[in-house]
Amino acid sequence: MSDKARIVLDPAFSVGTVDPRLFGSFVEHLGRCVYTGIYEPGHPAADAEGLRTDVLDLVRELGVTAIRYPGGNFVSGFKWEDSVGPAEERPRRLDLAWRSTETNRFGLSEFMSFLRKVEGTSPMIAVNLGTRGVQEALELQEYTNHPSGTDLADRRIGHGDKDPFGVRLWCLGNEMDGPWQIGAKDADEYGRLAAQTARAMRMIEPDLELVACGSSSQSMPTFAAWEATVLEHTYDVVDYISMHAYYEELGGDRDSFLASAVDMESFIENVVATCDHVGARLKSSKKINISFDEWNVWYLTKTQAAEPLNWEEAPRLLEDVYSVTDAVVFGSLLIALLRHADRVTVACLAQLVNVIAPIMTEPGGPAWRQTTFYPFAQASAYGRGRVLTVNVDSPTYSTAKFGEVPLLHATATIDDETGAVTVFAVNRSQTEALPLTVDLRGLELTRVVEHSVLTDADPDARNTLDAPDRVAPGVVEGTSLSADGSALSAVLPPLSWNVIRLG
Ligand code: AHR
Repeated sequence: MSDKARIVLDPAFSVGTVDPRLFGSFVEHLGRCVYTGIYEPGHPAADAEGLRTDVLDLVRELGVTAIRYPGGNFVSGFKWEDSVGPAEERPRRLDLAWRSTETNRFGLSEFMSFLRKVEGTSPMIAVNLGTRGVQEALELQEYTNHPSGTDLADRRIGHGDKDPFGVRLWCLGNEMDGPWQIGAKDADEYGRLAAQTARAMRMIEPDLELVACGSSSQSMPTFAAWEATVLEHTYDVVDYISMHAYYEELGGDRDSFLASAVDMESFIENVVATCDHVGARLKSSKKINISFDEWNVWYLTKTQAAEPLNWEEAPRLLEDVYSVTDAVVFGSLLIALLRHADRVTVACLAQLVNVIAPIMTEPGGPAWRQTTFYPFAQASAYGRGRVLTVNVDSPTYSTAKFGEVPLLHATATIDDETGAVTVFAVNRSQTEALPLTVDLRGLELTRVVEHSVLTDADPDARNTLDAPDRVAPGVVEGTSLSADGSALSAVLPPLSWNVIRLG
């Protein structure tokens, strides 16, 4: 066994309160996320609108609180008008982002209906600032949000949606710094366009929440300068800057992969510092928060090496099958988000179904949970309330990418109404169990409700169509509170994601 790790929890010290939208996700018109993912008319489990009820059940179980739509790269060529009105009259279009054919059978109204059926989740809609601009964003807003009595609001009503969709949270484009993006722009060009769009949208509804595009990743050559310039233009009229990050195991370097959250945390801290730097320069008391609206494990280098695409409808794209190791890293990314809940108040797991997703489906067949489903569902269920300040005292290990890294990555939340505390912890060691002591100061805890763990003798085990339940969380026995309730003792198995609930 490694040396012990220790953390101290005290309800007097907290990072902030979790915004439920930290547990958002993302539905893009990409591959089979929509078609044969959430929507498959004719499937035995499809409802009258063609929505798969087996998928709806899993989305509810996942605990998703907000869903970003319709892209992603897709949005930069999207004409929203194509996606409304009688489905059989909608045009088929080339989707340049994913070299696919978009039938538009599923559109805005169907998405809103899907959200209503999920329940407890709100929309986050992206406007196209690639091929389009201010006017089209305003028209979309009038269509979705204006009650009645104008051309576009009445068109929505004529299409069968009497009530406005009430979209409060909007993304001003997607990854506009990326050369792969249709209509990519430099920071000044984009900053001006985003500011004009935001100002105009606020003329209709002043209280919208608006997200300006940050860099597509921390490794972009313009990272940080991009954020600074965009915010100089938009500071007063937006609420969030976006962050996107994907992680993968490269060259067999699993130790570095297991430490991916080190990168995610420094990325967040760098963007927060940049936001606050611009705020200081502008002498503003306003704080810009983070919308981490794309994050996940994604084997991107495999995707880039794939065959060129040939304008198929709903091709099998980005269908990564996640291992136990991936789920442990994924859990660690959730811990990183929670540890920054004061400034990261919106986050979207990219994506929801089939495309780098926690839920997989077969056309005409079943739907099942990937390994990553479990950490997300548990974090969404129990990672609410206040995030407590957690300083980790842990043995370390060496990584090629990040130097010495603590074996323990952890956070904790408290529900102030019930006093219940949940500790989320990852043991990054591939070989050794990690004993953990938690000092519980000023907390009235009397019992360990459950110590749930996701781990496996085979770190590459996965859930598949043939073995959909191969990997699932188990229960660790022996985790205990001291007689006076002032300390918790647990042992975290090697390479594991742990959720310890105290009542
Ligand atoms: O989530 C997949 C893609 O990753 C999105 O379309 C894009 O925004 C990002 O590059």
